[in-house]
Amino acid sequence: MKRLITALFLLSAVACGREEEIILKPNGKAALPAELSAGNATVFMTSIRAYDTPAPWVSGALLDRFLKGDKLYDDPRTSDQGDPTVGGLGPVYAGFSCGSCHNNAGRTYPSMFADGGSGRGFSSQLVYILRQNGRFFRQYGRVLHDQSIVGVQAEGKLKYTFEEKEYAFPDGERYSLVTPHYSIVEWYADTIRPQELIVDVHIPLRHVGMGQIMALDHDELRRLAAQSNYPEYGISGRLSIVTERNRQFVGVGGNKAHHADLTVELGFSSDLGVTNDRYPLEICEGQPQNVGYSHYGIQISTRDMEDVDLYMSTLGVPARRNVNNAVVLRGEENFYRAKCHLCHTPTLHTRQEAPVLLNGTRLPWLCNQTIHPYSDFLLHDMGPELDNHVPAGSAYSYEWRTTPLWGVGLQETVNGHTRMLHDGRARNITEAIMWHGGEGAVSRELFHRMGREDRDALITFINSL
Ligand code: HEC
Ligand code: HEC
Repeated sequence: MKRLITALFLLSAVACGREEEIILKPNGKAALPAELSAGNATVFMTSIRAYDTPAPWVSGALLDRFLKGDKLYDDPRTSDQGDPTVGGLGPVYAGFSCGSCHNNAGRTYPSMFADGGSGRGFSSQLVYILRQNGRFFRQYGRVLHDQSIVGVQAEGKLKYTFEEKEYAFPDGERYSLVTPHYSIVEWYADTIRPQELIVDVHIPLRHVGMGQIMALDHDELRRLAAQSNYPEYGISGRLSIVTERNRQFVGVGGNKAHHADLTVELGFSSDLGVTNDRYPLEICEGQPQNVGYSHYGIQISTRDMEDVDLYMSTLGVPARRNVNNAVVLRGEENFYRAKCHLCHTPTLHTRQEAPVLLNGTRLPWLCNQTIHPYSDFLLHDMGPELDNHVPAGSAYSYEWRTTPLWGVGLQETVNGHTRMLHDGRARNITEAIMWHGGEGAVSRELFHRMGREDRDALITFINSL
């Protein structure tokens, strides 16, 4: 993408250990602390590019690598198995580029809602399949690849249907909630009977603040987990620990906080079918139809993948808008009244040490920043309402990572829809809140009991993030 001038200037050197920078807005005025969603990485953008703009300190050689990473992220891969720049797609896959699911570094409108299931040519959701006993299917693996290159058959196709129920707030305003139902048709090999199968579909996450999330101060998260215990509200958060290659990491990425990194290698392998040093085998190698594709070797280098890692890590985070508007301020009070802040933590910090990308590049700009992600990055029991029957990492099937809310108010501008929650069942913010169960039930009840103006103000506040 083109370098967009964000007209944001840093008045002091960007170095670790400093965070008292005065940041000027495009109109020349000093930014207010509440506007600075991610300290020195905040961008004053409200357009379709709001998630997809480099942080103000990205220039020179760093900008070159940002642009290269952006291209590798967005350019559709092709079925030319020998081409290391844009080839290697499939033989089976889910999306044809990172950007096919994370359009404008956001949340592509899921094709299951547009097409009633698997999309035509690509899917913008991930379909996980599992046996009722918790084991994977050998023929298919963990993700159902519902797309394929010419000459190969997709593993199966998703069918999506839903059930809608109407409800009302005490003041009479109506709302309705939609429960999704999934089935798989056109299986490539073994047809799996519905009673043996768990299908779990996730919509993409917004890529807002990925670098800051990877630079989070883990001691602060540990303290938060130790303090996050409010028996009076039934809320207690749990830090996710993931084990990868026999080492333990703090998990902060993904809906179940089951990732310790930006999953670039996993994304290329599992979502696109592009092999790499960490995942050298084609996905579902066990499938006879894929055997002919196993001799092409590595289809993307670690250096190239690091540029994708760098691109995501150095994206700017959109500034908050209308922070002193009267309705927004009333909504902010209601956010605290409804105890949303006990999970959607407004303020956190990045750590002292520079985060290291997957090929060893360090990003000192990301350290020591005060950030406003509106998440504690901890796992919470969200009740049977959101239980997906699929544990991941250290998270149980009913546990979810608090979704960071920074940038949420711009999702409609960036991606043209307001689908929310891990599976996109909520069509707007009100529905997302009304799905909060388990530890989140207290917030749902407090929101439910508010008058209409207070509910609306709370939503207006969320939209200012
Ligand atoms: C077929 C669609 C699809 C494609 C293609 C895809 N993703 Fe994703 N991505 C998802 C979904 C769905 C999730 C949410 C998974 C979950 O529930 O944790 C996700 C989550 C992520 C996350 C975690 C974000 C967070 O907030 O923690 C990262 C990072 C990510 N993807 C990077 C990538 C990269 C890099 C690529 C390309 C190599 C890629 N994705 C390709 C669908 C996709
Ligand atoms: C107990 C912790 C907890 C509390 C309290 C809580 N949330 Fe959440 N919130 C979560 C978790 C966990 C998710 C992710 C659930 C999922 O995707 O299935 C979430 C998801 C959301 C989403 C969807 C975001 C997206 O992009 O998909 C919104 C919006 C939201 N919460 C707003 C609120 C508001 C407003 C309140 C207060 C009325 C609140 N939450 C209270 C934990 C909490």
